[in-house]
Amino acid sequence: MTAMRKKVSILGAGNVGASIAQLIARDGIADIVLYDIAEGLPQGKALDLAEACPLWNSSVSVKGTNSYDDIAHSDILVVTAGFPRKPGMSRDDLLQANADVVRHVVGEASKKSRHAFIIVVTNPMDVMAQLAWKISGFDHQKVLGMGGVLDSTRFRTFVSLELGVSAVDVEALVMGGHGDQMVPMPRFTTVKGVPITKMLSPAKITSIIERTRTGGAEIVSLLKAGSAYYAPAAATYQMIRAIVFDERRILPCAAYLTGQYGVRHIYVGVPVVLGKDGIEQVIELELNEQEKKDFDKSLSAVTALLEKIAI
Ligand code: APR
Repeated sequence: MTAMRKKVSILGAGNVGASIAQLIARDGIADIVLYDIAEGLPQGKALDLAEACPLWNSSVSVKGTNSYDDIAHSDILVVTAGFPRKPGMSRDDLLQANADVVRHVVGEASKKSRHAFIIVVTNPMDVMAQLAWKISGFDHQKVLGMGGVLDSTRFRTFVSLELGVSAVDVEALVMGGHGDQMVPMPRFTTVKGVPITKMLSPAKITSIIERTRTGGAEIVSLLKAGSAYYAPAAATYQMIRAIVFDERRILPCAAYLTGQYGVRHIYVGVPVVLGKDGIEQVIELELNEQEKKDFDKSLSAVTALLEKIAI
């Protein structure tokens, strides 16, 4: 009888944060704290979710708060606080404003939960993950960023639309930074084991790669007020589950590299094994010349942003 329910605190009760809370509450996998700077917002959303729990046969608690005290002893901190994109903005345009938010929120929350994992969603995500790691002082295996799972599910969706098969049967990999230079990897993208390079023309693949890279912007330009949240929340939830249930899933996440892919001391998207200890292994794929070039270009974009803020 030692197993206790996990506690997940979500910092930022906006669209992405509340959608993550909904998935956790529906499946009843952890108690939830929704924190936000806006008064009433997290309390209102938490109460609404708590009232849905009986209908989901879910017994978890959902609490909304404006106080960091409620975050104490969390197992996982999910960082979604900050500003979303508006039409015409790139994720990078959010840098200064969101760095201030993440610095503050992670500083406060990590003081209250010294043994938590941190999953960073706020954009520009790779740089915010690096900042969260630095500010918290936590082991780098326990601090990671959500980007690759989202970019890969977009890639899967577009491949499935093109081939007319279920996206469930499409495996895809997107590496590099979670920005316009991200690196969708056709060689590692398969339909029931068959690489898409054998099923689609190079021109088709190029256009799917382009749509994947601009997948977030496509939604921003449709929504006009705000950015995507259903798929970002589902992607974050998959990472939370992998940690809570020690699934050892192989997922692309922003991870702190210590020499893998020739990169040192920088957070960027790579496939990792994700389980109860967080990032248990970084998987080093053998990249060809072009893939290496694209990865390095994406890395340079992340490094350029890193240089613009004091970490
Ligand atoms: N402390 C706590 N919460 C904050 C702070 C702060 N200093 N600053 C802003 N917030 C809260 C806002 O009050 C808001 O409720 O963060 C929330 C952000 O929610 P949304 O505006 O709905 O944005 P969302 O779509 O959820 O995106 C959040 O995730 O995908 C990324 O690019 C996206 O960086 C953005 C983040």
